[in-house]
Amino acid sequence: MLTITSYGHSCHQISDGQHTVIFDPFLDGNPDATVKWEDVSVDAVLISHGHADHLGDGVRIARKCHKPIIAPYELAMYCQLQGADIHPMHIGGSYQFDFGLVRLTPAVHGSAVVGERIVYTGLACGFIVEMGRKTLFFAGDTGLFGDMELIGRRNHIDVALLPIGGNFTMDMDDAIEAAKMLRPGLIIPMHYNVWPVIRQDPGEFRRKCGLSRLRCIVLRPGESTTLK
Ligand code: NI
Ligand code: MN
Repeated sequence: MLTITSYGHSCHQISDGQHTVIFDPFLDGNPDATVKWEDVSVDAVLISHGHADHLGDGVRIARKCHKPIIAPYELAMYCQLQGADIHPMHIGGSYQFDFGLVRLTPAVHGSAVVGERIVYTGLACGFIVEMGRKTLFFAGDTGLFGDMELIGRRNHIDVALLPIGGNFTMDMDDAIEAAKMLRPGLIIPMHYNVWPVIRQDPGEFRRKCGLSRLRCIVLRPGESTTLK
């Protein structure tokens, strides 16, 4: 059993009833966020890359919960310098945590923390997480790439969280091409509508999925779905 909750944009929390982890906790400053970072309680914080709409409140949540940030090595080291516990990984690597197995996948995207200076934080990633007897693919921010076919071949993906907003990532047509390669049991779109430049109609995406015989559900911020 795995319950997936959207908190808006790419931020999703997953739970098997015993353990809970959160992806890309952009909450403070996210107009769609339905939870405050202070109220998040998790066993780990998974962060795909250093952009502010993904790193978000990750360091604060990890410090508050005394739980690690799981991220590509360079981003993890950045978070450690900010006082967070970390478990660094890198693309292609897997590790069995108490809550489940985590594998880092490629993502065609940048990774930097942009402040007064730009601190590059290595490569962006996606995550395969095996938890609650389900396999979830969180694509992170990425363009379409052909090795998604390999990810689909190597993992029996029950649910794939795919960006559809365009401009910075795949748009909905590319997300459907990605899904054809990943062959997930269920698709949940993410990374759209928070800003005008990534405006998309998730209902249209769901219809297009249906035309390609792909199952899709749209989670509005605050909504959950449970895979039995
Ligand atoms: Ni990004
Ligand atoms: Mn982003």
